[in-house]
Parts: sequence; C-alpha cells; structure tokens
Amino acid sequence: MTEAAILTLSVQETHRAGVVLGAVVQAGDVVALSGGLGAGKTALVQGLADGLGVVGHVPSPTFNILLVHPGTLRLNHFDLYRLERPEELVDIDFWETVESDGVSAIEWADRFPAELPADRLDVEMDVLDETTRVLRAVGTGPRSRRLASDWIRVWAASGGAVTA
Ligand SMILES: Nc1ncnc2c1ncn2[C@@H]1O[C@H](COP(=O)(O)OP(=O)(O)OP(=O)(O)O)[C@@H](O)[C@H]1O
Ligand SMILES: [Mg+2]
Repeated sequence: MTEAAILTLSVQETHRAGVVLGAVVQAGDVVALSGGLGAGKTALVQGLADGLGVVGHVPSPTFNILLVHPGTLRLNHFDLYRLERPEELVDIDFWETVESDGVSAIEWADRFPAELPADRLDVEMDVLDETTRVLRAVGTGPRSRRLASDWIRVWAASGGAVTA
C-alpha cells in the first residue's frame, strides 16, 4: 500500500510534523531518516523531542553520533553521517540502544541499511525547493506500518498538507 506523504512548507511545519509524530510513537519505535544534507532531519527530530516532552535544546548529534534525551519516552537521537564502517556502531551500543525502551530517531540511517531493525519507520525527506519538503513515511513491518498511518492521519486531521 502506498501511503500519502507529508508536505511541509517551512521548517516550523517540519517541526510540527515531529511534534505530531511524538504524539503517536510508542516505546521501542524506530524512525530511520534519510534525505541528504539540510533536508530537515534534525528539525523533524527536534519536533519529535518537543512532542516527547524533552526539556532544553536538542542539538544535532553529528559529532556525538548519539545523544540521549529524557522525556515521557527516552529519545535516542543518532546521526550516522560521520561513521565509516558498520563496526563502529558497536562503540555506541547501537543495537542495544535501538532495542531498548524509548524512541530511536536515526539520521542518515540509509548509510547502514543492513544494520537497521526489520520493523522500522523509514522517513525519506525530499527537498522540493528552499522551503518545501516532502516526508515519505513507509513502515517496514506491522508495527511501523501502523505508526506511518497514525502519523499521516493525525497530521492531516490537524490541518497538515499531504501529497501523493
Ligand atoms: N520545510 C522545511 N523543513 C525543514 N527544514 C527546512 C524547511 N525549509 C527550510 N528548511 C531549512 O533547512 C535546514 C534543515 O536543516 P536540518 O539540520 O534540520 O537538516 P538535516 O537533514 O538534519 O541536515 P544534516 O544532514 O546536516 O544533518 C534548516 O536550515 C531549515 O531552516
Ligand atoms: Mg541533522
């Protein structure tokens, strides 16, 4: 089944899409983000953090690889951009962290597709122009397919734009 995609016209809207995602995620959910430099992955995760009640600034984890934030659910925020080999994931306890409670958001997840959990929400962010982004959410298993449809449904119900 092809899901509709989320359309955002500003960074604030992408942030709000993240807040909405935070309202529908459950402990253990994994969000795998791809889309290139400046697509808006961090902006989306900052909204997700807000939605999970994370207090304080949520910086890009590009240099730390993993930043963990307490919230109503713990947010495990990864950025795999600087990793060169999958073996380096061992150093950050990647699999243990992803399998633990909390919600994991993984920027540049497409760098290591073979290391991702089987059931995850793939979110591909496309840059249409300077201020417009398309967020294509595809669940790769039963759990994440439910998450994808919940996210789009609540986004559209709250007035958010969708596209085919
Ligand atoms: N609709 C939009 N959604 C998200 N960001 C937008 C949008 N329109 C413009 N922007 C701008 O695009 C940039 C997105 O930056 P962000 O750090 O979130 O991207 P990223 O995908 O995390 O990049 P990186 O690969 O470097 O981690 C910001 O400068 C933001 O202001
Ligand atoms: Mg980023």
